[in-house]
Amino acid sequence: MVDIAPAPGSTSAPLPDRSVVPPVWSRITNLVVDHGEGSWLVTPEGERYLDYTSGIGVTNTGHAHPRVVAAVQAQAARLLHGQQNIVYHEPGLRLYERLAGLLPNGPWSAFLANSGAEAVEAAVKLARVATGRPAVIAFRYGFHGRTAQAMALTAAKDVYRGAFEPLPGSIYHAAYPYCYRAVGGAHDPAECTCDWEAQLDLLFHQLVYPDKVAAIIVEPVIGEGGYLVPPPAFLPRLREITREHGILLVADEVQTGFGRTGELFAVRHWDVDPDIVVMAKGIASGMPLSGILAKKELMDRLPPGSHGGTYGGNAVSCAAANATLDVIEDEGLVQNARERGAQFLDGLRRLAATHPSMGDVRGLGLMVAIEFVRPGEGDGRTPDPALTKRVQQECFARNLLLLTAGTYVNVIRIIPPLVTTAEEVDQALVIIAEALDAAGA
Ligand SMILES: Cc1ncc(COP(=O)(O)O)c(C=O)c1O
Repeated sequence: MVDIAPAPGSTSAPLPDRSVVPPVWSRITNLVVDHGEGSWLVTPEGERYLDYTSGIGVTNTGHAHPRVVAAVQAQAARLLHGQQNIVYHEPGLRLYERLAGLLPNGPWSAFLANSGAEAVEAAVKLARVATGRPAVIAFRYGFHGRTAQAMALTAAKDVYRGAFEPLPGSIYHAAYPYCYRAVGGAHDPAECTCDWEAQLDLLFHQLVYPDKVAAIIVEPVIGEGGYLVPPPAFLPRLREITREHGILLVADEVQTGFGRTGELFAVRHWDVDPDIVVMAKGIASGMPLSGILAKKELMDRLPPGSHGGTYGGNAVSCAAANATLDVIEDEGLVQNARERGAQFLDGLRRLAATHPSMGDVRGLGLMVAIEFVRPGEGDGRTPDPALTKRVQQECFARNLLLLTAGTYVNVIRIIPPLVTTAEEVDQALVIIAEALDAAGA
């Protein structure tokens, strides 16, 4: 048993030992938290941590936003579960209608599920049924989830798929324009010389006929694979190529969606019009909800009964999502993501000027990252996962929670809630500066 005081209102029995949780949940901290408020998590002893993980990009409205909590409480008292094959419920109907209007070039239609991976599955099923084509192309460094199909699409890191072969087939991986790690040297994404387009063409000539490809799925900003912001021409050109071949373009906005990058959906930065958008995480402030948006004529190609699920579009989750959308709109969170993101990048770039181990600082809105390298080794871009971990731990020791990312786990990713303030960002920058020195960066 661990000696942690019980939370107010809970049973007085001591908490079970943490070992009741299986080791498959690799751990960032051993913290037990009592509650959250805004950008902060609070332990039972009252110690406060600045949570710049946002529960892996979920709590965009901050922890326990009062309007989201009120909506959840009110809905829970009326109806917890109204299964979608059996009845309609008010929060669901309202949410379907709102989601359909979030992107231009509609009409759009939504399908609701529970997790990001489940929504990816829905996107692939829809793409296959609508096109009658078998293959799907994803990108190296991409992450799409942990179900079998989503695992097969994922190429961010070996641990996500390496032990689980055989995986579903007819999935191909294309080269991603990772400008910092480009062959021949790092370059400015605005002047990208990566040969991703030639590699995609090769894929079409060596591995799969383009007219057998149902969809290309892409994260508009790669998340788990290292917070890779694409060069400006990448997504618009990918849209042209997919159109030329009758291939559907699926934007996996599970991590980038709902204001995270400084647009409601990241594809808007490049004015790209995808066929399907995958949503989860920020959609409901922490209640389990996910979904896809597809052009209505496309969505209507999924025959009744060919897809579904017991909990998809749960009434309480839908109420949370409606309140989340209200908060994002009323509190100007998309604009705040843009401004706080710029503040963060500016501060980190200043630190990078005196810390050569900060090989790259990049980001879009409040998806911000530092890639750590050993500057004196090889071509100067050798990944330094040990330093990355030390910086993360030194931040934790100063009550700042951060996550890592990247194939070589040499990237610190910073995912604040979109409600974070300029003062909190300054506070985090001071902590990161101290942590860099303490970690020997
Ligand atoms: C881009 C992207 N797609 C899909 C997923 C899978 O979502 P979930 O963990 O809810 O299944 C994630 C999760 O991190 C993600 O970042």
